[in-house]
Formats: sequence, C-alpha cells, structure tokens
Amino acid sequence: MKKMLRLLLRPFRKPVDIEKSWIETPATLNDMVKFLSWFDRTSSIQETRDRARSDWQNLITAFAYYPQMPKGNCLEIGFGAGRLLVEASKDFQRAIGVDIHGAFDKTRAYIGLNGADNVVLLHRDDLNSLSDSSIDFLFSFIVFQHFESESEVDFYLSQIKRLMTPDGCAHIFFRKNDSPGVKVVPPKDFRKRHSSLFVEPALFRDRVGRDFTILEYQDRMKKHIDKPESSTNESGQARVVFVHQRPAGREEPVKAIAEIG
Ligand SMILES: C[S@@+](CC[C@H](N)C(=O)[O-])C[C@H]1O[C@@H](n2cnc3c(N)ncnc32)[C@H](O)[C@@H]1O
Repeated sequence: MKKMLRLLLRPFRKPVDIEKSWIETPATLNDMVKFLSWFDRTSSIQETRDRARSDWQNLITAFAYYPQMPKGNCLEIGFGAGRLLVEASKDFQRAIGVDIHGAFDKTRAYIGLNGADNVVLLHRDDLNSLSDSSIDFLFSFIVFQHFESESEVDFYLSQIKRLMTPDGCAHIFFRKNDSPGVKVVPPKDFRKRHSSLFVEPALFRDRVGRDFTILEYQDRMKKHIDKPESSTNESGQARVVFVHQRPAGREEPVKAIAEIG
C-alpha cells in the first residue's frame, strides 16, 4: 500500500541531492543514538558497539590474509559515526577515516566515549595530505553504494593504489546490481539513506583487476551473519579483497566464495 502510494506520488516528488543529503543531515541530529542511527540503524549505543564488533570480526577482517598483514596505519573510506574506526583502532597503530559529512565533531565525541585516542578524521578532499605507500589496510563497508556516480569508485581506487603499502591490502564492500552493468539512481527517485549505486560484481572485479591482484571475493553473502542461511537472509552486498598487482608468475590463487557462507 505504502509502495503503491509512493509510486503514484513519484512524479510530484522533489529531486533529492544525493551527496548533499549525506553531507548535511548528520549535523542536524543532536541526540547521539539518532546520530548513530543515521549511519547504521540502532536503538542504543551498546547495540552499535556490539554490531560494530561483529561486523569488524565476522566481515571486514574475516579473510585469510588479515592475520599476517602489517598493522601500522589503516584507512576507512566513509566512517560515518566512527563505530568501525573504534574497532580498527584496537588492531592498528593508527586508524584514519575519510568522509564527506559535516559533523566530524559528533564522530569525535562517539570515538571519545569509546576511549580510542589513535584515530584521525580527514575530509575526502584532504586525502592527498596522506603520503604515498603509507596505509596497510584500506576498507569500506556500506559506503560505495551511497556514491552518486561511478566516477567516485574510480577516485577511491586510484587513491587506494597510491596509498597502499607494498604488503598492504584492501577490502571493499559494495552493493551488487543483479542485472548486467551499473545502475545509478537518479535524484528524482532517490530516497534518503537508500542505495544510489549498484554494480554487477563481475564488472566491479574487472575494474579492480585492472590495477590490483584480487585475493578473494564473495558475490552472495548472508544479511545477518548469526542467522541461518535462507532466501530471506541474503545481503545485497558483495565484496572483494585485493593487493598490489603481483609480477607475472607470483599471482595469488584467487579464492572465490560465490555462495552464501
Ligand atoms: C551508511 S553510512 C556507513 C558508515 C560506516 N561505514 C559504518 O559502517 O558505520 C555511509 C557513509 O558513507 C559516507 N559517504 C557518502 N559518500 C561518500 C564519499 N563520496 N566519500 C566518503 N564517504 C562518503 C556518508 O557520509 C556516510 O558516513
């Protein structure tokens, strides 16, 4: 019923500026739980902490190369309220975050609440202030799907190439397009907090494979990691783990995890 009403009213909706909605809304949310909830739905600070720990341990760092990789600096692309930077700060000497929103003070308050003192926040446009080959681990979780164009994917992949240390690694989650190609949601159809960029997994891997060596990827993932596999428990996400391009003959075997699990 709600969906039908939305469809009927669609021609009369005002287009939403996608990037502006991410930049401006967080600063209007004064309550900490509402602020956290804008980035990742929650009903309490403790729930955010628990889910961040689970996402960090069971998804973001759950790949074979993680235990042996260097743990100097890490960089999160799209840190939101900082819940994953808090987790990253426990494994790395320094956890750096980059984002476009206008409420870094609130993110600092949340990180402070959690006692992390090795976290640095940067605006996207200041990313060039980081030195070449200075980041061991670059990750992004539920962020690439919120870009308003494909060119932002290229921007971050070129920054990852510049910033990653020789033995470093990146883990990017993105929203998959179940049809071939890329789908970009136009401002007239965009609803706040919803995904705006969907990429066919094979295409995303082709793009990554132009500049990097892929270690591992997964096209079908469980939505709730702690719940049993079922048709209703499938995530819209896909992911890819990659390192600098290896010289011919030294390529890693790619581990494809195509099924849920
Ligand atoms: C759904 S939140 C996820 C936040 C965080 N990764 C987490 O899991 O809690 C999406 C984040 O992506 C950020 N974002 C959107 N477009 C961005 C861009 N072009 N560059 C960096 N961050 C961006 C938003 O400001 C927001 O903080």
